[in-house]
Amino acid sequence: MIKKILILGGYGNTGKWIAELLLRFSQVDLIIAGRNKIKAEKTAAQLNQKYRSPKTTAAVVDAGNYDQLMQALRQVDLVIVAASVVDDIDKVAQAAIEAKVHYLDTLLSSEKKLNELKKLMPEMKKQGVVFVTDGGFHPGLPAAMVRFAKEYFDELHVAQIFSLLRFNWRDLQFSQSTIDEMIDEFEHYKPVIFENGEWKNVGWSFARRADFGEIFGRVRCVPMLLHELNRVTEKISTLTTTGFYVSGFNWFTDNFILPLVMLGVKVLPREKMGFLKKAFIWSLRKFSSPPFRTSLKMEASGLKKSEKTTMTMVIFHEDGYFLTAAPVVACILQLMNRNFQPGLHFQGMVVEPKSFFADLTKLGIEVTMDLPDLFAKIAQT
Ligand SMILES: NC(=O)c1ccc[n+]([C@@H]2O[C@H](COP(=O)([O-])OP(=O)(O)OC[C@H]3O[C@@H](n4cnc5c(N)ncnc54)[C@H](OP(=O)(O)O)[C@@H]3O)[C@@H](O)[C@H]2O)c1
Repeated sequence: MIKKILILGGYGNTGKWIAELLLRFSQVDLIIAGRNKIKAEKTAAQLNQKYRSPKTTAAVVDAGNYDQLMQALRQVDLVIVAASVVDDIDKVAQAAIEAKVHYLDTLLSSEKKLNELKKLMPEMKKQGVVFVTDGGFHPGLPAAMVRFAKEYFDELHVAQIFSLLRFNWRDLQFSQSTIDEMIDEFEHYKPVIFENGEWKNVGWSFARRADFGEIFGRVRCVPMLLHELNRVTEKISTLTTTGFYVSGFNWFTDNFILPLVMLGVKVLPREKMGFLKKAFIWSLRKFSSPPFRTSLKMEASGLKKSEKTTMTMVIFHEDGYFLTAAPVVACILQLMNRNFQPGLHFQGMVVEPKSFFADLTKLGIEVTMDLPDLFAKIAQT
């Protein structure tokens, strides 16, 4: 039974939305945690005022401090890690296991994080705790979208996922560690796609275009490794072609700053990257302009009743952090009501796709499909 949840990073961009949605759509009590006491208390007070009930408290918790983690986690049933703490993920995970607390993180999908968590699998199972990793929208949604398509087709053959990222970066503040995590992602960037039944590296210049409608038109997207899609290809034997493709940020960042950052991460020591990190964030803020929208689009095809059939699914919200938070909350609603096995799961692989997308629409995310039959109405029910 999940009655109380601690959100590490609860006053960050993602954490704040997760807190709001949990208070609106569940009965849980919350602890807003991070290293800054004033910010945690201010956010808890704002939430209590808005929801007219003192269900939310604040705590100072540094992911690097095991004693603080243990003290806080002993009070809760689930910890949501919405903090860029990849260097301390082993401590957070160990503490969750020792405190017998379920765990869900929204960190970007990195081998470092996944390897740390995989090492702890036997202890998770022994203690009976559920760990959900790669939560959010990407990572988080693409594998669930492909699994949703699999339920529609008799035989799913192709499922390509494209992502459009038009954030209002001007109004956002980040922790230094969040910026470092984004830079890490560039360092470990792998342009891979799954074609004719095998994963291959297609190189840095490979791109596809996806149509994101009247306002944005056909957008150039580049392939990117998402570990959850590797799992999907292991599970769906009929799938021959898939991949995750991501759009750029804006014309200036994409053409002038990103190439320098990609070169920098290969040749410069980490401590010499300061100028490039600043230039990256400056360019995001300076050149981000409306309309703002974050969207995922799946183009799928396969066989249905022996006929070749296609399907398009689009998921979007104007606020990219709301779109990160809502899948986390939809997953937690399932964790509360379904029996997830103890151990480590990807969010995109563990959720039951139909009710997950139905819940996403209830939480305020737009989910549209071009299907002529009842299946298309699932998300609206
Ligand atoms: N999966 C997805 O779709 C998706 C999308 C967007 C972001 N993300 C990821 O989600 C995470 C949160 O992103 P965000 O943009 O919300 O970040 P953010 O706004 O920078 O917030 C990060 C939060 O983490 C806290 N934090 C940082 N280091 C900490 C530590 N050592 N111990 C405790 N708390 C710590 C920060 O507070 P203090 O610094 O005051 O401690 C802050 O509250 C990041 O890992 C990001 O990469 C995932």
